[in-house]
Amino acid sequence: MKKITIAIDGFSSCGKSTMAKDLAREIGYIYIDSGAMYRAVTLFALQNDCFEGDQLDVERLRSLMPEIHVSFRLNKETGRPDTYINKVYVEDKIRTMEVSSRVSIVAAIDFVRTAMVAEQQAMGREKGIVMDGRDIGTTVFPDAEMKIFLIASPEIRAERRYKELTEKGEVVNFDEILENVKQRDYIDSHREVSPLRQAADAIVLDNSHMTIPEQNAWLMAKYQEITSA
Ligand code: DC
Repeated sequence: MKKITIAIDGFSSCGKSTMAKDLAREIGYIYIDSGAMYRAVTLFALQNDCFEGDQLDVERLRSLMPEIHVSFRLNKETGRPDTYINKVYVEDKIRTMEVSSRVSIVAAIDFVRTAMVAEQQAMGREKGIVMDGRDIGTTVFPDAEMKIFLIASPEIRAERRYKELTEKGEVVNFDEILENVKQRDYIDSHREVSPLRQAADAIVLDNSHMTIPEQNAWLMAKYQEITSA
């Protein structure tokens, strides 16, 4: 069957990566979590003294960009690709609140986006890819054959994030997470470069009250509909 490109966009903690990863595994496609790439750049910036508190030294990060190489390796246990910076495993470190609370600042910088988008487009050159993010259907793959825009209420997304972090043993505060979710929504949809917005030809799914098997079944049905047309 002819391979296509699948773009899944939406706000943070909507369940995009769960959905994208499961579909990719089911249909034998590559799955790329583009948010992990912005998280990796943020972690690198933190580790290399580009932040003073929440204040980013943009020029320092600019000078370090050529040294940052983000890659993925499939983890057979989780079925997800793990993230590496310059071949060092960073999957756990990029998911902490320290990174989450600063990633929107880094993801709003034009030279960071230019570099990441170029890498994402190179990964998708052969098609057969499911990529999730904020600007995949609008900027990275505007010609994707299948575009999904996922939405869920901020409270439900904060609950999901809270569960995910506490299960990992992080001590977190629900109100802080909710605030972080809302703040990231605002920054992601109001930034100048490639803001989060729904592509005109995207299919919208509100999964606030759906289980994972229900959303996976919905996605598979859409995939079959599009590839059999
Ligand atoms: O999906 P996530 O929460 O892991 O994304 C982390 C951050 O990266 C989020 O604040 C939005 C940003 N991002 C982006 O700007 N463009 C993408 N394609 C993916 C993520």
